[in-house]
Amino acid sequence: MNPFFISTPIYYVNAKPHLGHAYTTIVADSVNRIHKLQNKPTFFLTGTDEHGDKIVEAAAKNNQTPEEYVDRISALFRETWPGLEIQPDRFIRTTDPKHKKCVQDILQKVYDNGDIYFGEYGGHYCFGCERFYTDKELKDGLCPDHLEKPKFIQEKNYFFRMKKYLEPLREHIQNNPDFIRPERYRNEVLGMLGEELSDLCISRPKTRLTWGIELPFDQDYVTYVWFDALINYVSALDWPDGDDFKNYWSGAHHLVAKDILKPHAVFWPTMLMSAGIPLYKSLRVHGYWTIRETKMSKSLGNVVEPMAMKEKYGLSAFRYFLLREMQFGLDASFSEEALVGRLNADLANDLGNLTNRVLAMTHKYFKGQVPEAVEPDSRDRETMDLGVECFGDYVRLFENFEFAKALSRLWVFVSHLNKYVDQSAPWALFKEKETVRLQTVMYVLLEGLRKIALHLWPVMPGASEQIMEQLGQPFDLQVADLGAETSHWQGLVPGTLVARKSNLFPRVDLDQGAEKDLKDSQQGEQAREPEVSFEDFQRLKLVTGRVVKADKVKGADKLYLLLVDIGEDRPRQIVAGLADFYSPQDLENRQVVVLANLAPKKIRGVKSRGMVLAVRHGREMALLKADPETLPGNKVS
Ligand code: MSP
Repeated sequence: MNPFFISTPIYYVNAKPHLGHAYTTIVADSVNRIHKLQNKPTFFLTGTDEHGDKIVEAAAKNNQTPEEYVDRISALFRETWPGLEIQPDRFIRTTDPKHKKCVQDILQKVYDNGDIYFGEYGGHYCFGCERFYTDKELKDGLCPDHLEKPKFIQEKNYFFRMKKYLEPLREHIQNNPDFIRPERYRNEVLGMLGEELSDLCISRPKTRLTWGIELPFDQDYVTYVWFDALINYVSALDWPDGDDFKNYWSGAHHLVAKDILKPHAVFWPTMLMSAGIPLYKSLRVHGYWTIRETKMSKSLGNVVEPMAMKEKYGLSAFRYFLLREMQFGLDASFSEEALVGRLNADLANDLGNLTNRVLAMTHKYFKGQVPEAVEPDSRDRETMDLGVECFGDYVRLFENFEFAKALSRLWVFVSHLNKYVDQSAPWALFKEKETVRLQTVMYVLLEGLRKIALHLWPVMPGASEQIMEQLGQPFDLQVADLGAETSHWQGLVPGTLVARKSNLFPRVDLDQGAEKDLKDSQQGEQAREPEVSFEDFQRLKLVTGRVVKADKVKGADKLYLLLVDIGEDRPRQIVAGLADFYSPQDLENRQVVVLANLAPKKIRGVKSRGMVLAVRHGREMALLKADPETLPGNKVS
C-alpha cells in the first residue's frame, strides 16, 4: 500500500500561532485525513523551529532564557492544534536531543563526502530572514521581505557545495513535473536555477550566536538555522534506521507557503542528494492569506486568531471556509464577511437545510426509519450517477491539493439533492400514497447525505461525524472506505433510526459590534432635517453592481436573496422584493445600482446588506442601471 507522509513547515517560536499557520496545518490535517479514509498508511508531521537569532531576540524581549521561552511558545503551538481538530502523528521540536543528533550525523556525512568546506564570505545579512543576500537579490538595498537594510557581515564560515547539485536538481525537476506544484512555483524554481546561485553558508560563529546545534567537526560554530530546521523532516522519522523512515519517507509531501519556497525547493533537495537520502515526492506551495491586500503576519500586526474565529463562527465553518476560499497556490483575502457569506450560503442554506429537510421527512413519512430503496427510476439513477461522479472528482481534486475545486464539485451534488427534493416532491408522493416511489426517493437522499458527510470528514471532522451519527450510522474509521463509496448506493441499512433534526449550521450575523456602529451612525442621520446637504448625499455609497445569483428567500414569495458583485472581495448579500417581477434568470448577470452603506437588516431571518434601487411604475418594476454599462463598484454621484 502506498504510504502517505505530509509535513507542515516547523513554525518559528517567535510568535503565537495565527491564521496563516493554522491554514497550512489544517490543510495538512485534511489531506492526511483523505488518505486515512482510503486506509492508506499515513504520517502527519508538524512542529516548531527553535534555534537562531530571531528566537534569542524574542526570548530577551520577554525576559526569559531561550530555553524557557521556546518551551512556552512551542507548547502554545502544540496545544492549539487539537482545538482545531488537527491531529498530527508527531510534533517535532528542533531542540529535541534526537533531532540535534540527527542534524550532526547528516552534517558529518556531508562533510565526509567532501561537500563542506571552510571559507571566507562577506554578504548582506538580514536577521529577519536569517540569511545572507547578494547585491542582486536586494531591493533598493533593502531585504525584499522585511524592507530593512541588512547588515554587511564578513566572516569565516563553513559552506555546503550546493552548486554541485544544482544541475542534477534541475534535471530532476524537469523529469518530474509533480516535484514542485502548482506549476507557477515549479517555473519559479527553474528560474532560480537558471540564475547564478552560490554555495550555501551553513554555519554561524559562536562569537555571534550560540543558540544552535554545534557543528560536529568544529566546536566554535553552530549550524545555520535552515540547515538544522529542514532536517526535521527526516529526524522526526528517525532517519536512517527507524521504522517510520523506512515506512513513510517514500511517500513524502512537504506543504509550505511561497515565502519559504527556496529553502524547500533548492537547499533541501541538494542537502538530501549530498547525504544520499532519496528526494521527497512533492513540494506543495500555497499563497498568502492577506488582509486588504497585505500579507497577514505578526510583524505587520494584522493577524487573525484562529481560536477567535472558532469561537465566533464554529470550527466547521472556519475550516470549510479556509479550504473553500483559497485557490491553492494563489493569495486569498481573509474577511469575516466572506466567512459569514460562505457559512450562510453553503453550510446553513445548502447543506444544513438539506440535512434538516431529509431528517424531518424521514420522521414524517417513515417514523424516522431509513426506508428501503425499491425501484430506482431514471431520475433516481441520474442523481446517483451524478453523486458518484462528484465524489470521484472530489477525491481526485482533494488529493491534488485543489481544495476549492473539490468542494465546489461536492457542492454541485449538495445543490442537486436540494433540487431533487423539490422535483421529487416527497410530500406529494406521501399524499398520493405512492409508497414505493417515496421509499426510493428518501433512500437516495439519506444515502446521498451520508456519502456527503463522509467525504466532508477531512474538512470538518466534527460536523461530519455528527451528521453520520444523526443518520444512525456513527463514523468508524476502521470500516470507512472512500474507495468503495463510488461503487454502491447502499451504505445505510434500512430500518436504521435517524435523528429528528440536525441544526448543525445555524445562520450567523456578522460581528454585532460592526453592525452597532453602522446603526449608531444611521440614527445620527435620522435626527436631521428632511432636507439634505450635498455632503449628506455624498455619504450615500451608491455604486453600480452586477447580480451574480438570485434565489428565493424561503417562506417569502416576494423576496429574492441576491448576491451582487459591487467590486468588493465578495459579492454582497441583499434581500430585494423583486420576485413578483423578475425570474432568477432575468436577474442573474444584470447590471444594477446599489445603496451599499445602508444599515444591515435582517429580513425574514436573512441578513441584507444594502438595497438594489428600482422604480415602481403602476404594477411594473424597473431596475435602475447605468447607461452605458459600467463595471461593478463604479460610484454613482
Ligand atoms: N521556521 C520556518 C520554516 C522552517 S521549515 C523547515 C518558518 N517559520 S514561520 O513561522 O515563519 O512559518 C512560515 C509558514 O507559516 C508559511 O510557509 C506558511 O505555511 C505559514 N504562514 C505564515 N503566514 C501566512 C500567511 N499570511 N498566509 C499563508 N500562510 C502563512 O518560515
